[in-house]
Amino acid sequence: MPDPGAPSEEARPAWDSTALRSDPHADPDKARRVQEMFGAIARRYDLNNRLHSLGRDQAWRRRAVRLAQVGPDDDVLDVACGTGDLSEAFARGGARSVIGVDFTPEMLEVANVKVNHRRWPRDVTRPTYVQGDAMDLQFPDESQDVVSIAFGIRNVTDPAKAVSEFHRVLRPGGRVVILEFCEPGLAPMRLFNGFYCKRIMPLTASLIARDRSGAYQYLPRSIETFSKPEDLAALTAAAGFGEIQQTRMTMGICAITVGHKAAGP
Ligand SMILES: C[S@@+](CC[C@H](N)C(=O)[O-])C[C@H]1O[C@@H](n2cnc3c(N)ncnc32)[C@H](O)[C@@H]1O
Repeated sequence: MPDPGAPSEEARPAWDSTALRSDPHADPDKARRVQEMFGAIARRYDLNNRLHSLGRDQAWRRRAVRLAQVGPDDDVLDVACGTGDLSEAFARGGARSVIGVDFTPEMLEVANVKVNHRRWPRDVTRPTYVQGDAMDLQFPDESQDVVSIAFGIRNVTDPAKAVSEFHRVLRPGGRVVILEFCEPGLAPMRLFNGFYCKRIMPLTASLIARDRSGAYQYLPRSIETFSKPEDLAALTAAAGFGEIQQTRMTMGICAITVGHKAAGP
């Protein structure tokens, strides 16, 4: 018998304070909550990113493209592509093809609107987008040269399974590029960043997105409870990647992990 005083499933935020008190990555309902939350914030997602990173987020994505050493013969799969900013950066970076995959339809809708409204130079191949799951990619073995994921691996239910999928779909010699937030190593920066991410950003970002899903309360909680960059490097190695390099950016608030699939015999 449902409790008549309890909020209905629809009225309940994707992430409420009870769900965020414990580790959100261990929540058995994480995938549904993540999808619902991105569905709720999709329209203002880019604006919030630009404002709250002071414009740095696009520079981080461009850096990821440079570190992938993408060339004119490279096919790129941008997993958890969201509204397509990294997919677009890969396209402009000269990839032969870019496919963005995400499991939230509202994020893909924004990505498609953007790609259709942009002016694209004639020699650039526009990205295309499909709905799909990072842990079960609908692409053949050894079909891609670069697999990227920006601010997505933290949101996936089973990161190890996703990174194994990335290894499967990469051709020999292919690269995986993982861009993700982390906690700065320097104590003063960690304190400042913690204050900003936990006290200021949740208020301003929720206001801008008119968000009631709890997305911007989940964000700092999901970062502090997620794997450290060194654990992400170990997970990438365990999936079969070698020559793993990590680059920290903006006083250590995010890091790019690059791994290589062996070039073959
Ligand atoms: C923080 S956004 C990042 C979007 C984009 N990569 C960027 O750079 O802004 C995280 C994205 O991961 C997607 N996502 C989370 N889990 C996923 C999964 N299992 N499969 C596909 N997409 C997933 C969400 O729908 C969301 O669009």
